[in-house]
Amino acid sequence: MAARKTGRDGFVAVYPGSFDPVTNGHLDIVRRAAAIYPHLVVAVVANPNKTPLLRAAERVALLHEVCKGLPNVEIDCFEGLLVDYVRRRKASVIIKGLRIVSDFEYEFSMALLNRRLQGGVDTMFLPASLEYAYISSSSVREVFSLGGDISDFVPSAVLRAMRRHARGKSGASSPLTRRRA
Ligand code: PNS
Repeated sequence: MAARKTGRDGFVAVYPGSFDPVTNGHLDIVRRAAAIYPHLVVAVVANPNKTPLLRAAERVALLHEVCKGLPNVEIDCFEGLLVDYVRRRKASVIIKGLRIVSDFEYEFSMALLNRRLQGGVDTMFLPASLEYAYISSSSVREVFSLGGDISDFVPSAVLRAMRRHARGKSGASSPLTRRRA
């Protein structure tokens, strides 16, 4: 497949996800993909089937914060089919991070489905770095909700946002707002 060239931005790659919240593992994939592609769009999906913890606007703001040192990374948000968004952005590559074998089984079928839906759109997989292979947004949410320490798993801006969110949702005396190391 020939990558589509898109003016001054060069080849555009899209890294889609819920990012609810963005983790150190996501950030590792962003950094590595941004070192490969001239223009990387990190695209927050605004309408996943599951109910998100953080609003799409909060997830976008956090991504802006944690990616601010990466000049070729753009943060965006979309609704609807990923392949339609990829076409609108004149991109030709979808980036996915793979942590474990079960990720591959799911993502492999998604890659085939997306290429079937939109010819010319291919998926590039980046293996998670070993130190992040066990981190997922859902496990971060669960550990946090049960009062565990997530400071090694997410950027500090995300930790602050999670604490703010918990305070706003549950009140100052909730276990969610207990100080975490
Ligand atoms: O971070 P996630 O939740 O694992 O990301 C999954 C995501 C958002 C990339 C996937 O659900 C997606 O592409 N959603 C957009 C809607 C779509 O295109 N669905 C058909 C292919 S799954």
